[in-house]
Amino acid sequence: MADEPVVPIEEMGGQVAEVNLPASANPNSPYAWPKERRLLSTRVNRIDGPLKVAGRAKYSYDIKRPGMLYGRILRSPHPHARVVSIDLAPALKMPGVKAAVSIAKAGGKVMYVGDEVAAVAAATEDQARDAARAIKVEYEVLPFLASVEQAMQPEAPVVFEGGNVKASQTEEEGNLQAGFAAAAHVVEQTYATQVQTHVSLETHGCVCEWEGDKLTAWVSTQAVHGTREGFATSLGIPQANVRVITEHMGGGFGSKFGPDVQGIACARLAKEAKAAVQLMLDRREEHLAAGNRPSAVAKIKAGVSADGMLTAFDGESWGTGGAGASSGFPLPYIYTFPNRRRVHKDVYINAGQQRAMRAPGHPQGCFITEMLMDELADRVKMDPIEFRIRNLPPQAPNAMWREYFKVGAAKFGWDKRHPTGDPTPGPIKRGMGCAANRWGGGGRGTQAQCEILPDGGVVVRCGTQDLGVGTRTLIAIIAAETLGLQVKDIKVELGDSNYPFSGGSGGSTTAPAVSPAIRVTVSKALLELGTRVLGVPADQVAASNGRVHVKGNPSKGLSWAEACRKLQTTPVSVNAGWEQGLSASGSSGVQFAEVSVDIETGVAKVERILCVQDCGLIVNQMAAESQCIGGMVMGVGYALYEDRILDRNTAMQVNPNMEWYLVPGMSDIPKIDIMLMNQPERGVIGIGEPPTISTAAAIANAVANAIGVRVRSIPLTPQKVLTALEGERAGGTL
Ligand code: MOS
Repeated sequence: MADEPVVPIEEMGGQVAEVNLPASANPNSPYAWPKERRLLSTRVNRIDGPLKVAGRAKYSYDIKRPGMLYGRILRSPHPHARVVSIDLAPALKMPGVKAAVSIAKAGGKVMYVGDEVAAVAAATEDQARDAARAIKVEYEVLPFLASVEQAMQPEAPVVFEGGNVKASQTEEEGNLQAGFAAAAHVVEQTYATQVQTHVSLETHGCVCEWEGDKLTAWVSTQAVHGTREGFATSLGIPQANVRVITEHMGGGFGSKFGPDVQGIACARLAKEAKAAVQLMLDRREEHLAAGNRPSAVAKIKAGVSADGMLTAFDGESWGTGGAGASSGFPLPYIYTFPNRRRVHKDVYINAGQQRAMRAPGHPQGCFITEMLMDELADRVKMDPIEFRIRNLPPQAPNAMWREYFKVGAAKFGWDKRHPTGDPTPGPIKRGMGCAANRWGGGGRGTQAQCEILPDGGVVVRCGTQDLGVGTRTLIAIIAAETLGLQVKDIKVELGDSNYPFSGGSGGSTTAPAVSPAIRVTVSKALLELGTRVLGVPADQVAASNGRVHVKGNPSKGLSWAEACRKLQTTPVSVNAGWEQGLSASGSSGVQFAEVSVDIETGVAKVERILCVQDCGLIVNQMAAESQCIGGMVMGVGYALYEDRILDRNTAMQVNPNMEWYLVPGMSDIPKIDIMLMNQPERGVIGIGEPPTISTAAAIANAVANAIGVRVRSIPLTPQKVLTALEGERAGGTL
């Protein structure tokens, strides 16, 4: 296996997401968000929208350098093998080939179909493809594991050092025996979720170009600074000699935090060929080797008292994160089982490794727990919402969930939900379901620079990156609000490791890390401008309506252009950064879904979803809603369609494409309503991940409500729906 460093999931998922910030902003901060918001919390079009619509935005894929070559990786055709030898010579003789490097080592192992072995660079993509095929690799094929079931069998070959199954987590609280003794009803069921891949629309990859010992890399990454560090460490060169640029980026969802194996190979090829090299993965490589969300299975026994209080939870779970990678997730999710035990095992198979994926672990835990909650509610004949509210945790944000369940139910028309099984005659059955979510969404540590130029120009630089979510626009909104200008007056420069430091865009940390940095830096720049050109003390400086003036007295001052002209030849240039008090942590939400299911074909369709979500102070209403929509569309795919399917005889993925790996298309996307709860007093909180967490759970509960029988694993394919209906006709499973 290639030994390039991979950012561990804990770093970019759970821990970063749980950055422990106060739940509220500090109203006494000298940079506190304005009470009268002119641009903040409004709907602002993306400043990069026209560029993207016109096809002028440059993604890594669009970078063309003089004399640029194309790189291609040779990948293992075997799920498990020892690499006996790699001979690059035949490839080097192929037409157009300028460089070839090994990635795997002779004597080392490849652990899955698609594991990296070697790479070439050639004048054209086709030549690179042919040349990669010409590399001669001798393998000693080894026994392998193609499925979780196979890996867990006692007689399975031991493929992974220390065993194929690793006990990774045990939690216990309270007294299980007493909990079950207090239960009037007990549900014992098994729930399961599949492996989902990220399917970033822009594939992984980069362009690398050397100038002497200095590397410039245009990378599709969620972390320009992290990737600079990754290149420097892996290549053994100073960080000062690496520049990483990400002008535009087509999604990462947790899978793009470093240079990655292909980035390092690309840099090595470029060095050897003495030319720029572009190496972008294709869709097959994305599915095989660029990360995924681990699967999850949970066998649960849970108890509920006659009056609808949860009493006990005993759960055994497992899942696969592929070849040697973990599969943990939170369980039970959100609701309080006073007595509980949970044991989790990681099961290793010969498949591509998991990476952080949008709210890592939470969609699995949410699906499993929320399915169980509906089953328990049914046992005590309680409305699912009433039942959930009754069993919310005793601490915050319980009040928010309670409110969201109530206002959401009213808006959604939950009172029209029929009890289990749509009694309407005919094959089309409708149903409703709900589920809750939580996430951290705090961030810190970003730095920024603001220049105010004598011609009135404002440039804000920040080494963050815009993954396609609207970070550029967020920066412009905050700067314009602070300076009394318009969004179009601000020039935002980001996505470059030469700009002031910002962390990776993971764990929904970007908005809460970047927004305060911009607010503080731009405020300081304004104070410098005001003191210099108005000659008043800093605490007297204000800006509004295109004027810089004495606080509380807009007529006593100058127009923006006049003020800047007075700077003469010396611009204002201020570097500053994130301060506590302008952002917070802790996002919560609730979602409702209505589905229709054709019980003759088994096809489920999501009709509408309502999302009730908070993210503290809303910076850009439109962008925040877009985040919700994106997350829910991903959740529709998770609920109904997406599944990485491995052939059980060969461990080859049978659907490594977008024809058979099904992501939602336009016609699959339901009517979506969003209730964003603006909480300006809390400061900015990230919303990238939470909206995807509870969509699949709400849909699955709605399907059960529609057809009166429960499908306990996603995706809810027509086959599973029909099988469940068949089972019910044969004697009932609910
Ligand atoms: Mo996220 S899965 O930390 O990009």
